[in-house]
Amino acid sequence: MKTEGGNCPDAPGRRLLLGHLPAAMLDPVGFFESTRTADPLVRVRLGSLNLYLANEPETVHRLQIDGEAFERGRFFDQLAGHFGRPPIALDGAPHAAQRRMLKPAFNKGSVLSHSEMLRRNAAGLAESWRAGPMPDVKQQVADYTASCVLHGLFGGDLSQGEIHDIQRTIHLVALRLLPGTLLPAALGALPVPGKRELNSALLRFRSLVARMIAERERQQSAAGHDVLDALLRAGVGDDGARLSPAEIQGELLILLFAALETTSTTLSWALVELASHPRTAHPLYAEADRLATQRAAQPSYARRVLQETMRLHSPILFTRRARHAVELDGVRLPAGAEVGYSPRAMHRNAAFHPDPLSFDPYRPSLDSAHGPRGAFIPFGIGPHRCIAEHFAMAVMAAALTAIASRWELALPANAEIVESPSSLPEPKTVPLLLTPRRRESLENQRAARGLAAQPEDAHQPIGAAWRG
Ligand code: HEM
Repeated sequence: MKTEGGNCPDAPGRRLLLGHLPAAMLDPVGFFESTRTADPLVRVRLGSLNLYLANEPETVHRLQIDGEAFERGRFFDQLAGHFGRPPIALDGAPHAAQRRMLKPAFNKGSVLSHSEMLRRNAAGLAESWRAGPMPDVKQQVADYTASCVLHGLFGGDLSQGEIHDIQRTIHLVALRLLPGTLLPAALGALPVPGKRELNSALLRFRSLVARMIAERERQQSAAGHDVLDALLRAGVGDDGARLSPAEIQGELLILLFAALETTSTTLSWALVELASHPRTAHPLYAEADRLATQRAAQPSYARRVLQETMRLHSPILFTRRARHAVELDGVRLPAGAEVGYSPRAMHRNAAFHPDPLSFDPYRPSLDSAHGPRGAFIPFGIGPHRCIAEHFAMAVMAAALTAIASRWELALPANAEIVESPSSLPEPKTVPLLLTPRRRESLENQRAARGLAAQPEDAHQPIGAAWRG
């Protein structure tokens, strides 16, 4: 008879006593990449905590879609420590009901309704840049992303200072999340530096949302199309009871956590990759020029650039927990077993993505029909699939298109791209060398289709742009 988890091979690099904990804490990115072995399932021993990682695409797919056998795991336990457990962070029926309620705010129609705001913000970002070397555009990219996302969530009701405060709060949570996910519960609960700063940032966020809720209730204006309005209108459960203010604050924090760093980090990496591989940027310039004359056209190459970026630069770990005893790749796991997979390891596996470290937006493995399911899932799949995939792609594609219509991208001489470790590794800086593209030819194209220069194309700071 099989012992539970007993026949599962250990991931490489296990040490006596602490197992893989030192390697996972010291070099999390390198460590989780190294868990990709020939074995379909490997056990990572983090002190007293066992984490079983799937290496087979089919198993990864199962972990994602089989909501009856697997629920959210340690990652969300960590989030709950900061945000509580609003319905979107649950499993099963309450989660599904909340998703149904939120979905319309992120469907294709709603995303289309944001097109003008995205175009204006993206033009503001591209127009704020100057020719020559830019040592680091990372903060500007993060500001652009935050402006777009917060507009989708709250409409135009936030000041620039409030936007920056929210960005900082989410960043602090992200910093603390990975270590907490990897540590056994007793160690994870120990006080760590920065906790007070995080707590007061969370308090500020909660009172900001409480103020906005009170304001909308006072004006009885919860009939708009942003996510806050959808949450205020939402009935949950069989009794249709409204969400409490605390639940709404939690929902918004989860959404912001899921939205901000993922989107701005992906966009930052896309710029780094395009600038490092100028040939991959040429089709983007051509597409941006085409889109300037055919507004209904879709940015298909920009989307491939973003997909390839998400393949190369993925989160290092997603977790789930077994709801009952299950067998996974021939290994018997007990109820409560912590399981997961590394998108980074999977997306850089040469067996499914040949020449995995090269940046190639035309690679066939980005197409869903190509390769085994589970080998490329940048937005996940199943009950917890990203609710805002269309919105996130629209935010990022709008920026790439606006930038490519104005600037030719390269890396400045001696620029060094350094990856900083976190749950989604990010470039420490995003240095660019910008050369203006044929601006006059764009103006000619506009004139040809009878469009005067758009007022929103004028230089304006991002904070001003999103308010419109
Ligand atoms: C490049 C940008 C993004 C990427 C790569 C991304 C990726 C993902 C992935 C992989 C998941 C599934 C996680 C899991 O299986 O545990 C997910 C879930 C989620 N994402 Fe995104 N996301 C992005 C942007 C956004 C944005 C902009 C929002 C909101 C405005 C958002 C909201 C969510 C939410 C709420 C969930 C949880 C869904 C649920 O459990 O029902 N994401 N995302």
